[in-house]
Amino acid sequence: MNKTTAIIIAIDGPAAAGKGTLARRLAAHLGYAYLDTGAIYRAVALKLLKQNIAADDIPAILAAARTLDPAELAADELRTDPVGNMASQIAAIPALRDALVNFQRTFAACPPEDRPGAVLDGRDIGTVICPKADKKLFVTASTEERARRRYRELTDKGEQVTEKEVLDDLEKRDARDQNRAVAALRPAEDAYLLDTTNLGIDEAFAAALDYIAAR
Ligand code: DC
Repeated sequence: MNKTTAIIIAIDGPAAAGKGTLARRLAAHLGYAYLDTGAIYRAVALKLLKQNIAADDIPAILAAARTLDPAELAADELRTDPVGNMASQIAAIPALRDALVNFQRTFAACPPEDRPGAVLDGRDIGTVICPKADKKLFVTASTEERARRRYRELTDKGEQVTEKEVLDDLEKRDARDQNRAVAALRPAEDAYLLDTTNLGIDEAFAAALDYIAAR
């Protein structure tokens, strides 16, 4: 098929709103490729933590981004809280965001394995990376519910955290993601808002599919 006609589904929203689970499931259902763009920022963050590079050492951060291998995006180590925090700090650096744009746009326009479309999730997919995406969802949930979900996820993996620590951390991360000067987290004007506070995974999936089918 002509690759320039790939269908693009953009899914944005705050941390732990359920967008990753939803995006992965939509991609599998539709036979599309899936890109977790948060994993890109996390993979750069992990390199910095491992090499003791500070969150304000821009030349070293850009060098780490340039040597990023897509195979690194699947590492389990990316999912820890220190990595998420570092990712959220470096995500405010405009030069880093610029350096990562092409990789994301190329994935969306030419999905791997000749897939007919791509689902990308992140913070700025519908607003900056793919403003002309065919479908845009903004997935959210109350801060308390997101903290509960993140707490369960972390303790299931054996991490020693309290619910209060997770809540404080999410609030800090939300503030950074929403208040940064570039590509701040906000719904695109034409995004479908999906609040998953009171929805299970199956209900959120059904609502997202309804929206995608209806447009
Ligand atoms: O979705 P996540 O928790 O894996 O993302 C980690 C951090 O990366 C998040 O705090 C903000 C940043 N991020 C971003 O700025 N833009 C994206 N498209 C994806 C993630």
